Amino acid sequence: TTAYPFYGQAHQGGIETPQQRHAIFAAYDLTVSDPRSLQVLLARWSAAIAQFQRGRSLGAVEPTRDSAVPTDTGEAADLEPAGLTVTIGLGPGVFDDRFGLADRKPAKFAKLPALPSDQLDPRLTGGDLSLQACAEDPQVAYHAIRNLSRMAQGTATVRWTVMGFGRASAGKGQTTPRNLMGFKDGTRNIKEDADFDAFVWHDGADQAWMKGGTYQVARKIQMHIENWDSDFIADQQSVFGRSKQEGAPLSGTHEFDVPDFAKKGSDGELAIPATSHVALAAHENNGGLRILRRSYNFTDGMNENGQINAGLLFVAYMNDPAAFVTLQTKLGRVDQLNEYIAHVGSGVFAVPPAPASGSYVGEALFR
Ligand code: HEM
Repeated sequence: TTAYPFYGQAHQGGIETPQQRHAIFAAYDLTVSDPRSLQVLLARWSAAIAQFQRGRSLGAVEPTRDSAVPTDTGEAADLEPAGLTVTIGLGPGVFDDRFGLADRKPAKFAKLPALPSDQLDPRLTGGDLSLQACAEDPQVAYHAIRNLSRMAQGTATVRWTVMGFGRASAGKGQTTPRNLMGFKDGTRNIKEDADFDAFVWHDGADQAWMKGGTYQVARKIQMHIENWDSDFIADQQSVFGRSKQEGAPLSGTHEFDVPDFAKKGSDGELAIPATSHVALAAHENNGGLRILRRSYNFTDGMNENGQINAGLLFVAYMNDPAAFVTLQTKLGRVDQLNEYIAHVGSGVFAVPPAPASGSYVGEALFR
């Protein structure tokens, strides 16, 4: 199976990497306030991730000494690397007074403001660090997060996690998967290198340590599945502005037809309703603004009322978090989709570039 290198890349894995099928996202609270402990954690995490991405364990699964506790929990011992990537993000709390890093905070980086239609649960929101583990085998992703959380003991605690199954976005050369509403998701995602340079990668202009990095916005979005499943097809298609089977814009016939937001039907109404999700989110209607989406479907079983607890682990990358704020401010007000979803979890993280060999993620931040 595929093994992605960890060191010496221009960017961390899990961003431009063709999207793997499974993901676990975890946000952590730092329980220390000295920069040295944070450095040590980032260094230990980086060394461990480099091993995991090669399909290796963290030392002995079965130590020879009877009284030794295994350093690796063992559940991935016989599994291949499975295209694992683990992406490390730094939350806004890293740049508050605690660590003496306030002058290293990138100018555009801050907590997300309250946004229209937010229904955030504080237990699923925020975090000083994030880990996004993606792999073709869910047990490989799980093993990485479990062991990295265990290594953080005494330095950071898990704040919230989402387990994603089934990719719900498409990268370059990938077929478009479907989200849990049954619609193709990722059709008009960022796929070209030039667009990654323009919209995703940080140029390091204000903070050199971020050059080749990016910002990660993670939102746990609940879907009101029962309501959605009782909606009639014409309305479902109107919500997105696309057809369900083919995924074509309602102004066209094929998935990759360019949407025509001015086209009117025989009834004189816009073919793609102005309040549809794609009309509101499209770059044509937002001054050219684009983000990279890298989302996953999730399910947490049933809720206490016996309803399906599932939705979208929305993960997006961009070189300015204001891009998400601009889009969600608009979507949160008028998107037809709002009737069927609720944003319940949220986090924003600065993602440094990949480390050079022998270094670790974020090392340049402490120089
Ligand atoms: C497009 C689903 C949330 C931004 C789409 C499409 C679907 C979809 C089916 C059309 C296919 C495509 O081009 O990918 C969903 C669902 C969501 C959700 C089910 C929540 C559960 C969001 C959020 C944002 C967003 C929170 C950003 C704030 C976009 C953008 C596009 C898009 C930028 C491309 C529009 C275009 O250029 O035509 N989404 N989305 N989506 N979505 Fe979402």
